[in-house]
Amino acid sequence: MPNAVDLRRTAKRRLRHALVWSKARRGDLVSQLMLHERLDDPYPLYEQMRAAGPVYRSSMGLNAVTSHELCTRVLRDPAFSRRNEEPQRVTPPGEQGPSGDSSFLQEEVSDHMRWRRLVAPAFRPRKIGDYRRRTEEVAHRLLDAALAKDDFDLVTDYASPLPITVISELLGLTDVDVEKFAHYGLITGKAIDGIRSTRQANEFRTAVRELDELFAGLVRRRRAEPGDDLVSELLKPQGDQALPEREIVGTCQLLLTAGFETTTNLVSNVVLRLKENPEQWEKLVADPGLAPAAAEESLRYDPPVQYSIRVAREEFDAVGQTLPADTVLMLVLGGANRDPEVFGNPHRFDITRSDATSHLAFLSGAHYCVGAPLARMEADVALKVLAERAPGLRQTGRPTRRPTAALRGLLHLPVTA
Ligand code: HEM
Repeated sequence: MPNAVDLRRTAKRRLRHALVWSKARRGDLVSQLMLHERLDDPYPLYEQMRAAGPVYRSSMGLNAVTSHELCTRVLRDPAFSRRNEEPQRVTPPGEQGPSGDSSFLQEEVSDHMRWRRLVAPAFRPRKIGDYRRRTEEVAHRLLDAALAKDDFDLVTDYASPLPITVISELLGLTDVDVEKFAHYGLITGKAIDGIRSTRQANEFRTAVRELDELFAGLVRRRRAEPGDDLVSELLKPQGDQALPEREIVGTCQLLLTAGFETTTNLVSNVVLRLKENPEQWEKLVADPGLAPAAAEESLRYDPPVQYSIRVAREEFDAVGQTLPADTVLMLVLGGANRDPEVFGNPHRFDITRSDATSHLAFLSGAHYCVGAPLARMEADVALKVLAERAPGLRQTGRPTRRPTAALRGLLHLPVTA
């Protein structure tokens, strides 16, 4: 039986949903995005926002930025915070933000810097070289199984289990239930758009609790018996600094959820674009050494993380427009990555372009993605192995999109080799 608090929350969610729906009908572009009306192709929406000026002021209180220059300035300026000080104002419109988020994405900057210093060694080039060999083994094993079938699903048979296996092993988890982890990824990913129902809130809480238990157990085991994995590394004090157990568990959760859903989306997005542009796929098949460039162009053209929220701590100038303190900015990475001021012919997918690396897919500034070197290596291996072993890869059905605006990727992509 739902209690009074649940009923109140449900009523509030319904009210907010109705509000977003009505704003979307009246032409509010951010509301249209949040209602997933443009999930297949949000890019024309971003162009409409761009046409409105450097900051598109949504009637829902979010201010969308599609200018590459302004996004970069905001991301590098400590006068903008990503801290969720006032959840109702920072959360995308219409929804309640995920509760129970212990991630360091929300932490204060001084703590955040200390945390980054402790985690960074896991992503140094030598380590990435070690992970590369294992990633190649896993990619070949997955393709052996997929190619043995007439048709396979590029996402569930390849793009999803590959990064799940790699990040789990990196953290020290063996024999993980890949499907269960993929389910956790879907639930936590969906929550970034906001919690829309009591059912979703319960699913989210359960996923967080189960992951908490899983990693608390792992931390206990590694404390008793250290291994060659990230948790054992994090347990070692660095000088006079050590992470408390609660933070190690939170870090594992963050690395796991930030680390595979996004990479799965990168691999599925790039394969879809390559199949939509057969001449680009042929270029990759002819020269698999183009795999890193193809991944980079996909990060620009179709980034797995479409936006990031920042809040102004003080009044600021947004290219001639003065905006007050507490302004909530929605930095539209998918829009900034197609800013014609920075990218020539921005709506063309071209794996040989020279300006792709200026994208903001991994952000910029203090919160630049810690796992970017790992994601790049995994995408390189995934594409190279695929192009070499399945040069005749063909799409056999319509792709299914993940039902989120913040994270862009596929649930399914039916293909045959
Ligand atoms: C293609 C794959 C990936 C993309 C597109 C991506 C994108 C991003 C973005 C946009 C952020 C900033 C979020 C914000 O401040 O709003 C971020 C942060 C982060 N990412 Fe990634 N990421 C990817 C892969 C990974 C991987 C593989 C890992 C780890 C194994 C990872 C770990 C993190 C962490 C820990 C942060 C927080 C950094 C901080 O706040 O200082 N990411 N990522």
